[in-house]
Amino acid sequence: MKFFIDTANLAQIKEAQELGVLDGVTTNPSLMAKEGITGEKNIIQHYKDICEIVDGDVSAEVISTDFEGMVREGEALAALHPQIVVKIPMIKDGIKALKYFSDQGIKTNCTLVFSAGQALLAAKAGASYVSPFIGRLDDISTDGLQLIEEIRLIYDNYDFETEILAASVRHTMHVLECAKIGADVITGPLGSITGLLKHPLTDIGLEQFLADYRKGN
Ligand code: G3P
Repeated sequence: MKFFIDTANLAQIKEAQELGVLDGVTTNPSLMAKEGITGEKNIIQHYKDICEIVDGDVSAEVISTDFEGMVREGEALAALHPQIVVKIPMIKDGIKALKYFSDQGIKTNCTLVFSAGQALLAAKAGASYVSPFIGRLDDISTDGLQLIEEIRLIYDNYDFETEILAASVRHTMHVLECAKIGADVITGPLGSITGLLKHPLTDIGLEQFLADYRKGN
C-alpha cells in the first residue's frame, strides 16, 4: 500500500519524507491556496519544489475544463518533472483527456470521483490513479469506504491496472479500513499517517524499559 500526503505544505511534505514511508504527494487548487500559493508562476515553482523533496508521484491538477485546455495544461505540467502526474477532473472532457494522456504514456490521476460508475469509466479511459473522495462522502452520510470496496471488486473483476487512490482521507481509521479493503494508495493529512504510530501501551512500555535500565546503571 502506498502512502501519499495530501498537502502543498512543504514543511509537512519534508516531515513525511524524512519519516521514510512517503510514496507521493497529491495537491489541488484549494490546498495550494491554503498555503498562499497563487498565480501560475508560483504554482509551477511550487510543484518543482515538491518534486525536489519527494521521490514518488506528485499530482498536479489542471484548471481547464475543456479537452484542448486540459491537454495543453497537462502536457506543460508533465514536462515540468518526471514525477508529475496530471490530475484531471471526472467530467466528460476529462475522460477524453485521460484517454489522450494514457495513449501518450503520461500518468494521470482522475479526481472528484464519488461513484463506482465514475471509477469504471476512468479505468476504461486508462487513468493511472482514480481518486474516490471518501471523507466528503462520509460528510453527507454516505459510506465512503463502501465505495472503495465496490471499486476494488470491479477493478479486480477485470484486472484493471488503474490504482485506487483513496482520497479525502481524514484520519487513521480511514487509512486502516482502506488497507483492509485493499486500496492501492491513501492520501491524507500528515496526522492520518503519523497517528498510526501512537499507542499508550507503547509509551508506558518504553518508559518502563528505560526506568529499569536506569536502575541497573
Ligand atoms: O485528496 C482530496 C482532498 O484534497 C479533499 O480532501 O478533506 O478537503 O475532503 P477534503
